[in-house]
Amino acid sequence: MKSYDPGYLEKIIDKFPRVKLVNLPTPVHRLENLAKELGLGELLVKREDLTGLAFGGNKSRKLEFIIADALSKKADTIITWGSLQSNWCLQTAAAARRCGLRPILVLFRTYELSQVDQGNILLEKLLDADIRFFEARTKGKSLAQEEAFRCLEEIADAEKARGHRPYMVSVGGSATGGHMEKPLGALAYFLSMIEVYRQLSESGMPDWIVVASGSGATQAGLLVGARALGLKTAVAGICVSDSREEFLPLVKNIALELRDMLSLDLTLEEKDFILYNNYLGEGYGIINSKITEIIKMVMQKEGLVLDPVYTSKAMTGLVDLARKKHFSSGEKILFLHTGGTPALFAFSDRLLAADRF
Ligand SMILES: Cc1ncc(COP(=O)(O)O)c(C=O)c1O
Repeated sequence: MKSYDPGYLEKIIDKFPRVKLVNLPTPVHRLENLAKELGLGELLVKREDLTGLAFGGNKSRKLEFIIADALSKKADTIITWGSLQSNWCLQTAAAARRCGLRPILVLFRTYELSQVDQGNILLEKLLDADIRFFEARTKGKSLAQEEAFRCLEEIADAEKARGHRPYMVSVGGSATGGHMEKPLGALAYFLSMIEVYRQLSESGMPDWIVVASGSGATQAGLLVGARALGLKTAVAGICVSDSREEFLPLVKNIALELRDMLSLDLTLEEKDFILYNNYLGEGYGIINSKITEIIKMVMQKEGLVLDPVYTSKAMTGLVDLARKKHFSSGEKILFLHTGGTPALFAFSDRLLAADRF
């Protein structure tokens, strides 16, 4: 299989329109106390929660390409959807405001929360985003793309009638659809993999990258990036939205679209797509006492703040896999902290009384 020079790959990516939103490279550092607790040789974290835009997170990296695409299509409004405490929606609203676009956010109640004006929603209100709430038919799952786009299209038609030029993009900036015709979210994580390579290739690349996988592009981009660089690094996604069976085709599709968009001569094998299903708990956005324990343990051992919906479930997976000796001794593990921490505040009653739920 062919492998590519990182500089060559960066040059290809330079051709895509991009706005500057994030501070790069994000830091990588050791989690020594946690590594000791779990009996791991080396455990590192890449701090994508420190990208810098509106409390940071993986989505601001994707939005550098997505907002540039919206601007090149002469849009003046961006419309997207997410769940109640969607970090994607917050990041989109912040990026849109910074670049002079109007943000319209459709928030589906895919889980119940008592504190609505907290966390990401509070910040979206401070950004004066136009927020529309909708009831989701099924709880604990992400919304089907077709159902969400039907809703977005109605809003887009009304905006057009008022003289606006809307740009619609799917949840998480992952699946193509609406006005995003290319896998731009995954492109951002392809580039992030090159960043990891530049940071770690001298000291040794990780054997594993563990990451929360919610709408698919972060995992897909990292995986295609790793294989394009000729690395054996396993990119393990922890399912946080839907079951593996439902989710796997989406991740594969995004990865193949990205490979084809970049005209890479790569074969992605079935075994490359690693998705662990056991840490979803009772469903998307639903937390239990195990999740709370992990959040507390990581804070108390490392002072590292995880979020309740994504990174805490990904870390639950990492901890369980380590305790079950799934990683071979001496292997290097990189945990990708994808952000989302403002949601903690909206879950405060559940976090402080997790045993009751
Ligand atoms: C904080 C956070 N972490 C991880 C993810 C998962 O990333 P992706 O949607 O690219 O799978 C998301 C979004 O779904 C997120 O908001």
